[in-house]
Amino acid sequence: MPDATGASPAAALAAAGEEAAGLTTRILEARDAYYERNEVIVSDAEYDGLIHRLEELERLFPELASQDSPTQTVGGRAETTLFDPVQHAERMLSLDNVFSIEEFEAWAAKVQVSANRAVHYLCELKIDGLAINLRYENGVLVSAATRGDGVVGEDVTENIALVPGIPARLTGTGHPPLMEVRGEVFFPVESFRELNAAQSAAGERVFANPRNAASGSLRQKAEGKNPEQLALMTARLGRLRMLVHGIGAWQDPGADSQSAVYALLAGWGLPTSTHYKVVETPAEASAFIEYFGEHRGSVEHEIDGIVIKVDELALHDELGATNRAPRWAIAYKYPPEQVNTKLLDIVVSVGRTGRATPFAVMEPVRVAGSVVRQATLHNQDVVKAKGVLIGDTVVLRKAGDVIPEVLGPVVELRDGTEREFVMPQNCPVCGTALKAAKDGDIDLRCPNARSCPAQVRGRVEHIGSRGALDIEVLGEVTAAALTQPTVPETPPLDTEAGLFELTIDDLLPITVVVRDAETGLPREDEDGTVRQRSPFRRNPTAAEKKAGLEGPQPSSNAVKLINEIELAKTKPLARILVALNIRHVGPVAARALANHFGSLEAIRAASRDELAEVDGVGGIIADAVIDWFEVDWHREIVDRWAAAGVQFATPGHPGPGAAAAAGGVLTGLTVVATGSLEGFTREGAAEAIIAAGGKNASSVSKKTDFVAAGPGAGSKLAKAEALGVRIINADQFRVLLEHGPDGLAPAADAPASAEVEDAATVSTDTE
Ligand code: IVH
Repeated sequence: MPDATGASPAAALAAAGEEAAGLTTRILEARDAYYERNEVIVSDAEYDGLIHRLEELERLFPELASQDSPTQTVGGRAETTLFDPVQHAERMLSLDNVFSIEEFEAWAAKVQVSANRAVHYLCELKIDGLAINLRYENGVLVSAATRGDGVVGEDVTENIALVPGIPARLTGTGHPPLMEVRGEVFFPVESFRELNAAQSAAGERVFANPRNAASGSLRQKAEGKNPEQLALMTARLGRLRMLVHGIGAWQDPGADSQSAVYALLAGWGLPTSTHYKVVETPAEASAFIEYFGEHRGSVEHEIDGIVIKVDELALHDELGATNRAPRWAIAYKYPPEQVNTKLLDIVVSVGRTGRATPFAVMEPVRVAGSVVRQATLHNQDVVKAKGVLIGDTVVLRKAGDVIPEVLGPVVELRDGTEREFVMPQNCPVCGTALKAAKDGDIDLRCPNARSCPAQVRGRVEHIGSRGALDIEVLGEVTAAALTQPTVPETPPLDTEAGLFELTIDDLLPITVVVRDAETGLPREDEDGTVRQRSPFRRNPTAAEKKAGLEGPQPSSNAVKLINEIELAKTKPLARILVALNIRHVGPVAARALANHFGSLEAIRAASRDELAEVDGVGGIIADAVIDWFEVDWHREIVDRWAAAGVQFATPGHPGPGAAAAAGGVLTGLTVVATGSLEGFTREGAAEAIIAAGGKNASSVSKKTDFVAAGPGAGSKLAKAEALGVRIINADQFRVLLEHGPDGLAPAADAPASAEVEDAATVSTDTE
């Protein structure tokens, strides 16, 4: 039972789950007795108490709520005071669930045995909405009802009339005298977001999920509402949608399969889903399950699973149903996308741009298939709007690939020990007073851009990222080790200016705190000391000791980091520009600047207008570039990187403004680069060819003018030889880039391919 004793959310959830299961059983027994046998085994008050308690548990623990919970099948006794009762012509059944492919296969195997003939399965999405029964008589909608207890539902005909897409009169011909069509009413995800945003802006309660919102919207009464409320209700109903997924009473459907029924219904103007597939084997159904498990977010509505139905209608009759669910259908349930967990703390982090962002640190919890322990809370206003206190049990939502989000607190589970979050006035990392970048900004920033270790760490990590210099070893952890180690006290990098000066000796002494992979918190030994490790050194091997090597040796990561930093020095200018962390200069703008100007020097010398005029740059980026060069420690970065060998110019670029293609020394020529070309990365070689006006081709043909080949060149080299295409080495490639073909000595003097130099270089190809 969930209580306020501070029990862990996992334990509280388990206890609540157990209690909910017990309540469900008792409620269903009571209903069965009442509706099937006309017996009263619990009093009305007791029954109401059971429902009420189950509702409460589902509110506190949303992961317990399911569509077939008795709380969603309100029960003829409870809500008929608000809505008129409607007796379904045929009972509305629920679905049995499976939670793994093995369970699904076991179900399919059973079906196969009972059917004793080829079975086709119709796979479709399990819509997380509200079940509705539409009753059409001779093509005219006469009533719409919720499922209720399956026998008697609530009359919501008036409200359904306001839901778009549900025909009041069927189109086409051949409508049966009586036809029940079942389906799901739901809020499309996008509308749900807008609805909650509007609710929140109006200070109204936000809905926990689209299903609750759909249920709340459909089960509203117009009576007693003022015009404003009525307009709101109408607007909300107008956002709902319905998809039909089955039939009830219908004398002779005139179709022999579920898929044929869908075609018939669609032909009469009823909304059917496009996301279904008829398959011939359970393995194909499993593939459907897996596909949508990974693409839950690609559908306009929430899905909580896949429904697999036997397609042949005759088999529905043959297989029959239990008291609760048909044997010819099964629901495969996906893991919940919304769970409760404990908000342990709200911590403020500072990123590379200095923005101070509060984020929730939570007790790790599995949601939508992955473990979540942190979620951004964006800024202090958002924390306030969500109303969360540190120590709260919170509702956490993560839909598939979507970033986890704290929805809000479970207020009922507070015990008074919770405390309010206070946005710090100073940077939690360097202590500098936080301030808004400009008046009216909600976000606070740490203005100590040069030296705040958090910002330096962020910038160094950015330098290593894919879009910048793509230094594999230089990720979050290494960036932190280089800028915030526990030893030495003065980190090797106080800004990124020193990155290209790093040596193995700088790395060896570095020690960092070991953090728990689950919580991100420092790991402690039994005696309470914080565990530390030295990521860049290792003990010498026995062989090394024998060879006289004493003391710690550089780890393979240390060697790799230094090597990769060395290689990064000659990466394309566009990447170097991205690595400089100039505001707004991402890969696209950087490429435009690099292609146009060819060197950092030319970019720096350019006026604002000259910068802004470049296609893909514009005024904002031009201003950002000019502002960046005005800062002395930015210029220091450039100077020190240049002194360390960073290449700030594209070899062979014809100079500012001379568009590469027009007038470059390689205009009209096609060049293929293959193998390891000393001084060029694969990309660098390609960019240099383009920058010089040439065409960089990936395969050799008769149209190829030059093949620049280094060690490791494979089939392309062979093909060039066979076709008689001129082959050049790295030195000649450099000459070609700078002076064009005229700069090269005649072909006969070129070394044969076997003689290409054996330099320690980067692979420019992956043959
Ligand atoms: S078929 C007799 N198909 O899920 C079979 N149900 O948890 C009736 N649901 O009561 C259901 N999407 O309200 C079916 N594609 C779908 C569905 C679906 C959602 C609901 C339905 C059912 C509940 C069971």
